[in-house]
Amino acid sequence: MRRQVQPSSRPAGPSDRLLELPRRMIGEPRDALATPALILDRPVVERNVAEMARRMEGLPAALRPHVKIHKSPILAQLQLDAGAIGLTTATIWEASAMVDAGLSDVLVANQVVGPLKAAEAARIAGLGRVIVTVESAANAAELSAAARKAGTEIGVLVELDVGLHRSGVRSVEAAVELARRIETLPGLRLDGLLGYEGHCMLEPDRKVRVEKAKASNEILVAAADAFDEAGLPTRIVAAGGLGTWDITGANPRITEIHAGSYVFMDAFHRNLVPGFEVGLTVLATIVSRDGDLAVVDCGRKSIGIDRTLPEVAGGHAEIRFEHGEFFIHEEHTALTLAPDSSLDVGDRVELIPGYAPTTVNLYDVYFVVAEGVVVDVWPILGRYGHATAGVGPAR
Ligand SMILES: Cc1ncc(COP(=O)(O)O)c(C=O)c1O
Repeated sequence: MRRQVQPSSRPAGPSDRLLELPRRMIGEPRDALATPALILDRPVVERNVAEMARRMEGLPAALRPHVKIHKSPILAQLQLDAGAIGLTTATIWEASAMVDAGLSDVLVANQVVGPLKAAEAARIAGLGRVIVTVESAANAAELSAAARKAGTEIGVLVELDVGLHRSGVRSVEAAVELARRIETLPGLRLDGLLGYEGHCMLEPDRKVRVEKAKASNEILVAAADAFDEAGLPTRIVAAGGLGTWDITGANPRITEIHAGSYVFMDAFHRNLVPGFEVGLTVLATIVSRDGDLAVVDCGRKSIGIDRTLPEVAGGHAEIRFEHGEFFIHEEHTALTLAPDSSLDVGDRVELIPGYAPTTVNLYDVYFVVAEGVVVDVWPILGRYGHATAGVGPAR
């Protein structure tokens, strides 16, 4: 039976009072929503989750989906119900949102540095299994002290740089040395290694992507072998995202991959990994029309444009190029309509975000839609705001 996931009672997202208003739209047609509105197509998302679960069946690695894409414990629960072994987050606040909603086995695939963040990791480690990645002995000591103070145990993966040059220790030897240090620290449980090949994810040429990902995976596997030789735990050897799901996921030494973008897809991933559908759009209204020019009430403050431009769903228009740039202002986007388009002021269009994670981060809620009707409202939790940035979690 599916567990009912409730949004966090802590103020890491919109309170129940703030949800009251959007919830009044449940039962209304999607096109009755005020715009811009973030639309989650539930049947599509469910199909994407099922499709990824089906694909993973043939691979040795398990799936621990990255939830930075959606920041929704409700959607995370759908992924767990479909066979995911746990959840991955990019921030401690996303992890808190998941754990406070009752979900467990959450991996923060990032460094958790600073006393308030370490204390938060230690707190939620008392509510469920929590794992973080570490690259420095000083940070390991900070996490150990926080866990001891809270009387909890934090799982730790040594993060290894496998070519992305973002974070992680820079050599197999350094990984072993740090792991040995972690093993001596109370309050920490060494679970293994993470080596994210993020620099391969966006490579459009499939052949090059395969070569680069395999080379990165080999660095991680060498570290796992060195851990084995040194008697260090390798319960988890983690890597992977959507762009490398079938490359990294096929490596028999890698225990889990962290693909996440498959739930929604976006204009960027759509061209990279076929077979999934777009489940997230921004509903907008045409506010101005002149010939083949239409302007909608959606712009940089309501749709993510990094990585690539948004696209108009259904293809009846394109983002307009004028004044030497693509015409996306803060609250306006100019479209060039197809010659036979009858779209006019007041009509609705749906835009496919260029990049879903930075779009989701702009909204408090999803309007969950099935067959054109709003069927639910799901809060988007663990964003930066009063409960997190600067002051740590409110108590
Ligand atoms: C550490 C880490 N793992 C996995 C992913 C995979 O996400 P996606 O499914 O978007 O490729 C990301 C994305 O940025 C990431 O930063």
